[in-house]
Amino acid sequence: MKAIIYTKYGAPEVLNLTEYEKPVPKDNEMLIKIHAASVTSGDVRLRASDFPPLFWLPARLIFGLFKPKKKILGHELAGVVEAIGKDITKFKVGDEVFGTTTMLKGGSYAEYVCLPQEWKQGVVALKPTNLNFKESAVLPIGAMTALFLLEKAKIQQGQKVLVYGASGSVGTYAVQLAAHFGASVTGVCSTSNLDMAKSIGADSVIDYTQQDYSLLDNDFDIVFDAVGKTSKSKAKKILKKDGVFISISTMTAEKDEHLLTIKDLAEKGVLKPVIDRYCALEDMVEAHRYVDSGRKKGNLVIEINK
Ligand SMILES: NC(=O)c1ccc[n+]([C@@H]2O[C@H](COP(=O)([O-])OP(=O)(O)OC[C@H]3O[C@@H](n4cnc5c(N)ncnc54)[C@H](OP(=O)(O)O)[C@@H]3O)[C@@H](O)[C@H]2O)c1
Repeated sequence: MKAIIYTKYGAPEVLNLTEYEKPVPKDNEMLIKIHAASVTSGDVRLRASDFPPLFWLPARLIFGLFKPKKKILGHELAGVVEAIGKDITKFKVGDEVFGTTTMLKGGSYAEYVCLPQEWKQGVVALKPTNLNFKESAVLPIGAMTALFLLEKAKIQQGQKVLVYGASGSVGTYAVQLAAHFGASVTGVCSTSNLDMAKSIGADSVIDYTQQDYSLLDNDFDIVFDAVGKTSKSKAKKILKKDGVFISISTMTAEKDEHLLTIKDLAEKGVLKPVIDRYCALEDMVEAHRYVDSGRKKGNLVIEINK
């Protein structure tokens, strides 16, 4: 099969398109023919081994001290079940699925991957029936992260929520979810993303290149830092006394129930992925350069097995 492999940490050029052994499912696994994957900010961070100083050593111990343990990157996918092991009970051949590859041997920058039907760190489910593979592939991580953190902040109907970094993957899902939960949403992004933030549900928008959000009235219930580019001390200036600051630097966990909620909300038309660009496996180096730039709007799709 075609796959992108990397055998050392570094710049996007460490990613190489190669012929790789097609995986064979074990008894508790299914073989997925991948139709679409994504390039996430987590992927580029792993490729470059670009972790904050405090997390650098623990991350290296988990992902490979001197070189990556997992040769194939890619955390999200949508595809079709092509074969199943004898212990698979929840899925059948031909099912259209979406999910993650978290802590598995294989990644999604490939034509095939093996997934268990359930495991501790990652998730898989039937994909939303109304979305195509490309749209489904970019839902799991950004949307589950936004949902996890809004639930942690105990979001309530009628609250005022500010999403800082409303134009990234997590940010675009956070805006849509907060609006769905009945909050009044203020999105903070740069000039070229203001209209997009409004179109996905922000009631008001702030251009961070023109205005300092911390000068707003202090009547917000939640400030959600969706890009890790603001701080609790700054957010506090606009939060009510009992207001909550949440940040994507918080440790999150992938949960089956969250993926099913995301599927349901997508099918109801509540969640729609924002897609910036489509690339092929052959374009992976360029795709990583673009995500490295920090300017991605929503999500970047990798089309595979078209
Ligand atoms: N905790 C978790 O489980 C978890 C899960 C997923 C992601 N993350 C982390 O969350 C962060 C965001 O991930 P993502 O994939 O959503 O990011 P992303 O899509 O790569 O974010 C890019 C967006 O950030 C905006 N941006 C850049 N600098 C900004 C600034 N100074 N102020 C406001 N907006 C700015 C850019 O808009 P402009 O061009 O308009 O500036 C761009 O649209 C990453 O650090 C990632 O590692 C954590």
